[in-house]
Amino acid sequence: MTLLTYREAAIEIEPGEDVLSALLRAEIDAPHSCRSGVCQSCMHRAVEGNPPAAAQQGLSDAQKALGYFLPCVCVPETPLTIVPAREAGARSEAVVHSIDRLSDDVVRLRLEHDSDFAYRPGQLLELIADDGLGRHYSLASLPEEDSFVELHIRLHPGGRMSRFIAEELAPGRQLHIAGPLGTCIYEGVDPDQPMALIGSGTGLAPLIGVMRDALRRGHRGSIRLYHGAREREGLYLHDHLETLTKRHANLRYVPRVLSDSGPHGGDVATAALEHENALPHTAFFLCGGEKLVGRLKRVLFLKGASLKQIRSDTFLPAGSGR
Ligand code: FES
Repeated sequence: MTLLTYREAAIEIEPGEDVLSALLRAEIDAPHSCRSGVCQSCMHRAVEGNPPAAAQQGLSDAQKALGYFLPCVCVPETPLTIVPAREAGARSEAVVHSIDRLSDDVVRLRLEHDSDFAYRPGQLLELIADDGLGRHYSLASLPEEDSFVELHIRLHPGGRMSRFIAEELAPGRQLHIAGPLGTCIYEGVDPDQPMALIGSGTGLAPLIGVMRDALRRGHRGSIRLYHGAREREGLYLHDHLETLTKRHANLRYVPRVLSDSGPHGGDVATAALEHENALPHTAFFLCGGEKLVGRLKRVLFLKGASLKQIRSDTFLPAGSGR
């Protein structure tokens, strides 16, 4: 029986041997340092099989739920298929279900996928164009309720992926996806805990996924969703979110527009920092550009938020649809 599969290669593993030792013996250049489960530099993800509990000690609830583990302290007893932590995993096929404009430069892409693509709301997938170009996008859909995955994609004039999406994609078109990736998910949040979801631009997509997941699970604590944009048009789900707040008493939507001087004018990070006052108890989800996420993380931590309660996925350029 093959106990260990790395990407698609079967790796021999000796009785009692840990996964990191087996990878290194097979001449796989796996990152590592302490070799005792402390530094987490060797982290991998099991895409099939369950790592033993001892190999997940010290990881967050979200990481555990998603199969992340530490190979240096992992002696598997049942088969595992693993990939490096930052790798999206196996490719699978998807078919365009629909593509429509949410604003001048943001499209909503819905894809039908095969049942092997298991994800949690708030994670990312890699969209792969015909020429092999890959870009990561966050998932706004809910696997328990949607038969498709939903992505919000900002189109950039002249961007290769943007061109592919705008010119080539239409309902019925086949393409490849890989993933999922990312740990910005609801797992580990207490149902009575306040939640603050803060994002800008299409960083709203994963926050929508997490918010829907929380509401579906009957989250009882307050949920505040902050969405920032440069222009009013960038609040591309404004009306939908306003309507949703009328249906859920614990949901609040706080939009902010940089170029506006009206009641919704201003910077989203400033608004969130002004409103949030139970920092040590709040579960934070931050999604947006590096600058926004970095600033929020730093200030929230300095003001008393728990680092363990700050979940974030920086929106890399790939996520912006170039
Ligand atoms: S090498 Fe440090 S945790 Fe595995």
